Amino acid sequence: MNMYEIITKKKQGLPLTAEEIGFFVSGVTDGSIPDYQTSALLMAICLRGMDDEETFLLTDAMTHSGDTLDLSAIEGIKADKHSTGGVGDKTTLVLAPMLACCGLKVAKMSGRGLGHTGGTIDKLESIPGFSTSMSDDDFIRTVREHGITVVGQTADLAPADKKLYALRDVTATIDNISLITSSIMSKKLACGADCLVLDVKTGSGAFMKTVDDARQLGRKMVDIGRRAGKKVGCVISDMNQPLGTHVGNAIEVNEAVETLRGRGSEELRHLCLVLGSVLLVNAGIAKDRAESEGMLSASLDSGRALSKFMEFVTAQGGDTSVFDGERLLPVAPLSMDVLSPADGYVSSISCADVGMASLLTGAGRETKDDVLDLSAGLIVHRKVGDRVRKGDAIATVYSSDEKKLESAAAKLLDAYEFSQEETEPLRLIHEIIM
Ligand code: URA
Repeated sequence: MNMYEIITKKKQGLPLTAEEIGFFVSGVTDGSIPDYQTSALLMAICLRGMDDEETFLLTDAMTHSGDTLDLSAIEGIKADKHSTGGVGDKTTLVLAPMLACCGLKVAKMSGRGLGHTGGTIDKLESIPGFSTSMSDDDFIRTVREHGITVVGQTADLAPADKKLYALRDVTATIDNISLITSSIMSKKLACGADCLVLDVKTGSGAFMKTVDDARQLGRKMVDIGRRAGKKVGCVISDMNQPLGTHVGNAIEVNEAVETLRGRGSEELRHLCLVLGSVLLVNAGIAKDRAESEGMLSASLDSGRALSKFMEFVTAQGGDTSVFDGERLLPVAPLSMDVLSPADGYVSSISCADVGMASLLTGAGRETKDDVLDLSAGLIVHRKVGDRVRKGDAIATVYSSDEKKLESAAAKLLDAYEFSQEETEPLRLIHEIIM
């Protein structure tokens, strides 16, 4: 067997066997296959596609290309959640404590932000002292003791994906459903949870621009996860505007804490209830979504989820005194309001541009090595469907640097479109795959 034959076969549109896919993934992982041959095969996959069997085999080979976590020492049902990436998506910070209050064990590895999308690990690191790395033993002990642990993904987990993703990124081979599925699901399956909910975002701020594409990806990932023996559900949620109102790092933690205090974003609360209900039903903890939403709401309304969040932050070295009483994390010292240029209604918001505006404040990364200003970001005060009057503050940007503040404010104003006609608010949940 050799790469030339494998590339030729895929170029002709023929399905690859388990042995061929295994040969490819192990060669990518140990570096024996040169990048030009890997890139050629990736392009052939993009052009000719992979069937369900090949996608499963590729995911399985990538899952086992490095370490896999054994969570069997943790009693109870282990749950995980994955978002395909969005703007203002601080869901994990609210959902994880809600799930832990309902009896699930949340053992989660998360990523950092890149480009216009944010990452949970950066957000958590804006809490003083919070540590996002620990040994496997400590990871398991912390989940056992507190019901939640969130750490950064280690390089030993699905290393084939790291190499393939880096090549896909520079060879225009990201946007293939089988490659995205194997990339996301190999990392999730290597983490070893029993139950998984996938939040597939769709819209101007997401990878998947249409609901149809998001549905296709969601269904494929659910099928692959189930074939691997996991309980997997999926929610297709809207990313045509930021989730909630706050975008950045410390700023998003503040919105999450306010939501846990019962006065944050209704939208964020709603998404957490829907994602959580899929997990609780699939885990057999609740009989249906209505019962699970009741349990999850009670965890918020009783303040138990807020206490669990504080316990989780403390367990990972974070200083919760920053949240004493009504306190929140400090934000960057300079701020500027973005003003509505006219009377009317907000008719659309380019979500990718909001993400870019946040990046311009210093809160995001253009390249992997950029250093973030964790206190920077923005708050949107008006969303699609809202009425505005000329001169209203539709958003506020925060930065430590005057120039960044100005360019972020200009970008954010560009993101908004207005209309004289009344505009319907956007629907948040497009579909649920149980
Ligand atoms: N996120 C991933 O982890 N992989 C992809 O291929 C796309 C999005």
